Amino acid sequence: MDAQEIRTAYLRLMAERGHVIIDRASLVPRDDPTTLFTGSGMQPLLPYLLGETHPAGTRLADVQPCVRAQDIEEVGDNRHTTFFEMLGNWSLGDYFKSEQIPMFWHFLVDVVGLDPERIYVSVFAGDDEHGIPRDDESADIWTDLFAQAGISCDRVDLITEEHGNDVGNRGARIAFYQDKNWWSRGGGPDAMLVGDPGGPDSEVFYFYPQVAHDTAHGRHPHQNSDGGQYLEIGNSVFMQYRRNPLPGSLGDGDGTHDAFSELPRRNVDYGGGLERIAAAALDSPDVFRISLLWPIVAELERLSDKSYDEHTHAMRIVTDHVRGAVFLAADGVTPSNKEAGYVMRRLLRRAIRFAAELGIENNVLTPMVDIVADLYADAYPEVPNRRETIANVLQKEERAFRRTLNKGLRELRHIAKEQRTITGDDFFTLNDTFGFPVELSTEEAQRQGLTLSVDWRAEFDDRRDEQRRRSQAATKLGVHD
Ligand code: SER
Repeated sequence: MDAQEIRTAYLRLMAERGHVIIDRASLVPRDDPTTLFTGSGMQPLLPYLLGETHPAGTRLADVQPCVRAQDIEEVGDNRHTTFFEMLGNWSLGDYFKSEQIPMFWHFLVDVVGLDPERIYVSVFAGDDEHGIPRDDESADIWTDLFAQAGISCDRVDLITEEHGNDVGNRGARIAFYQDKNWWSRGGGPDAMLVGDPGGPDSEVFYFYPQVAHDTAHGRHPHQNSDGGQYLEIGNSVFMQYRRNPLPGSLGDGDGTHDAFSELPRRNVDYGGGLERIAAAALDSPDVFRISLLWPIVAELERLSDKSYDEHTHAMRIVTDHVRGAVFLAADGVTPSNKEAGYVMRRLLRRAIRFAAELGIENNVLTPMVDIVADLYADAYPEVPNRRETIANVLQKEERAFRRTLNKGLRELRHIAKEQRTITGDDFFTLNDTFGFPVELSTEEAQRQGLTLSVDWRAEFDDRRDEQRRRSQAATKLGVHD
């Protein structure tokens, strides 16, 4: 099955199992000041996970485009992308672990056709401090499913990623972790945002025996290692708790001082990475090989007359960033100097910078719009429908940045020749005069072997604030005149 088929098959299965397929939300949430982007399928459903009644019922599913801007610098490896599609299903006080886990297994093994021998899972080890029990129930359900496929299951307590790196899973199918197996928008139990729902989760990983474990990420491989052998493909969150304003532990006293309280209903929040499941279906550890990304890479190969195999890193960055920016433009974002617009500007300027490294000196963004729009036409007709607007937005940004890109790079090389350290003042000039987002200049400076001055960020902020004050004063003068 290719990625498009997997998406369709998932929604079909969910409908067969009594789910209402709901519309996807915009990439830019309208009523949520806590976040710039929709970064998971559950985000638009927060009020319902907290207890409100959803008009479509208690069994919901969708495919939600997501942006995780915090992953920008991770892009370039074989599995991170800033934009991705999340397959999602939710039980709002309806089914729980004993229906969710077998349903996901059925999807992966019987529908998509993944090899059960290559599936590994993780479950929650419990948290004594907060009085939250170990999730043996999920582990038992997994054990039964593996047993039905003739696979025996060992269990191992790894608790943290670091400990896992030291000892490895020694082949155990089921690994128990603590924070790694807790999901909320903020992270583990202590990192949860006040008022948010969260709970223990059970993650599924696909194992690639053909990949050598990279010991730069720890001595031994295990489910949550970044060593390259295990790819996380999906996560079932058993959302049972809500974070309260005051610290304490579950069940101590009258509840007002508890860190967590039980939600009115037990929910399931499942999210699966479409791109990663499609990569597993291809038996490829590289997500850029899937049917939704490879045509973009192929276009870059054509435009640059270079091969992906030799220019993997740069091609992955351009591919991911252009796709993300096309979707942001489709959802009405335009490049700017703040918030979502700033992230979009970073994506586009970084894409242009890496395209230049591939030798594409002109007009890289607009040819990509058609490719992305065609790839997503079935599932997201809004993208081809807004093709022209999207192309105009991207072209304008490319023209603006191209005018100064080479001069800015020359300036950086000049700085690298003259100095060993680069300062916040230098970054300010690169930003103000040449339009380099500061993160792009720091990345470039490091590539040139420069050290960043200790206070570069404060120096940069001071210069920027000073400039803002001056321009505000100038505007005021203008008004009084
Ligand atoms: N919210 C969970 C995640 O993002 C599952 O949907 O992994």
